[in-house]
Amino acid sequence: MSDLAARRQREARAEALEARVRTLEQALELKTAMLREVDHRTRNNLQLICSLMLLQSRRLQDEAARRAVRTTLERVNAVAAVQRHLLQGEDPRRLDVANIVRDLASDLAAATGRSEIAVRLELEPVALPSASAAPFSLVVNELLGNALKHAFPGERAGLVSIGLRGTAGGAVLSVVDDGVGMSGHTPGLGLTIVELLCQQLRAKLAIAPGPPGVQATVRLADEPPG
Ligand SMILES: Nc1ncnc2c1ncn2[C@@H]1O[C@H](COP(=O)(O)OP(=O)(O)OP(=O)(O)O)[C@@H](O)[C@H]1O
Ligand SMILES: [Mg+2]
Repeated sequence: MSDLAARRQREARAEALEARVRTLEQALELKTAMLREVDHRTRNNLQLICSLMLLQSRRLQDEAARRAVRTTLERVNAVAAVQRHLLQGEDPRRLDVANIVRDLASDLAAATGRSEIAVRLELEPVALPSASAAPFSLVVNELLGNALKHAFPGERAGLVSIGLRGTAGGAVLSVVDDGVGMSGHTPGLGLTIVELLCQQLRAKLAIAPGPPGVQATVRLADEPPG
């Protein structure tokens, strides 16, 4: 082959390669845009569900029915908190659940309207498999929700401490209050949900009922739920 023919061949190959890279870059851009769109839609849809439940609860006269709808709204919001953080980290397969706990704590504390109850957070960054994040978020929602709703009856003041730290094999969550304690109470739907989700997460749940105060500890192993 002459020098000229060889050069033309090299140029043609380089052009073909460039065209292929451009096509792949465009395909990647499209997929990324689709992913963001799906994430955006999912968040908006969850927000819509929460708004519908809020509207419904406002129309209910019956206090028990109103409370049930509000509690369900809080549970959906706990799942929505996970979705809000899903695409924020570098690797969507793992999520820093400390950020989720922070969001939930501020939402739930604000919803009580009880300034005499302080919420203290001692959170280390803990990256869990993203499949564990929604059940984990719901567990936090139930335990913290219980402390805020039941530990300080009347206008009793108090403190709820939420701790999260990473361990060699996983993570430990603690929700501790200095309220009235829960000896003698039978589990309702909230604690039943906590037990079921801890089984799903293969986490060990321990609840010291007090008095004084309730201490709940959840020990997670670092493996996604099956
Ligand atoms: N931190 C706490 N302090 C005092 N009492 C508690 C605490 N956590 C739970 N309890 C008691 O245990 C009971 C069962 O809790 P559980 O979360 O299962 O049900 P619930 O909070 O009553 O209803 P739900 O969670 O379904 O809205 C509560 O009604 C309450 O009496
Ligand atoms: Mg409860």
